[in-house]
Amino acid sequence: EPVIRPVGPASTPAVVAHRGYSSVAPENTLAAVESALRTGADYVEIDVASSADGVPIILHDNTLDRTTDGTGALPSVTSDYIEGLDAGSWFSTAFAGQPVPTLLDVLALMKGRAPVLLLEVKGPETRAELELIVQQLRDEGLVEQTLLQSFDVNVLRDVRAIEPELRLGLLRSSLDADPVAVARDLGVVAYNPAWTALQSRTDVVEDLHAAEIAVMPYTIDDPAQWQILRDLGVDGVITNKPGELVGWNARH
Ligand code: G3P
Ligand code: CA
Repeated sequence: EPVIRPVGPASTPAVVAHRGYSSVAPENTLAAVESALRTGADYVEIDVASSADGVPIILHDNTLDRTTDGTGALPSVTSDYIEGLDAGSWFSTAFAGQPVPTLLDVLALMKGRAPVLLLEVKGPETRAELELIVQQLRDEGLVEQTLLQSFDVNVLRDVRAIEPELRLGLLRSSLDADPVAVARDLGVVAYNPAWTALQSRTDVVEDLHAAEIAVMPYTIDDPAQWQILRDLGVDGVITNKPGELVGWNARH
């Protein structure tokens, strides 16, 4: 059995809100996280990376340009600069003034709520930067409520050494020849591939489950594809439409 069980009925994959409820609110903002929590998502996924002064910031891209009214690469700007930015107006005037959250902002919002935080660390990050991310999870009492995932295996190796109690997930844009071996080597409890990669290798979910490793593919918004993934027996579905998936799960 996978270590991370679906929160819903056994045959229903968990609903994972991608960058919050990012189809109704600007991705990776507190508004998107709050919407995901209210819609009944089982997990809330966000992206974290560090600013020039080492503050863990919630942002998907390497630069601020697409999703804020600021500019520049995150590793080269300070948290003071980021604090004054608007991360909502690009999405809709209804969200004007939504700030770029820090990790601490999101942890405060998630604390005491049922869903799991699926925290994607966008590498590369220095050891000190990763230590601070882990320390903030500890300080807020969220180590147990978090599954930390990354495409960057160095991030996963470092975090494992920093905090062995923290559960880890490996993100993959294509499948490994032997996903179980790779997952075991890294000590991850979840193997989260691009869903298109999974579709061509239906045996993989079974193999990973036999090794007690969960599978939560990304990013799927189409009900026809939700059906394929449910038939494959995946443990969670990462989607921009968590409200719609909650409703679809209830009807199917
Ligand atoms: O959670 C998986 C997914 O978020 C990975 O891709 O680019 O949306 O961070 P990306
Ligand atoms: Ca992500």
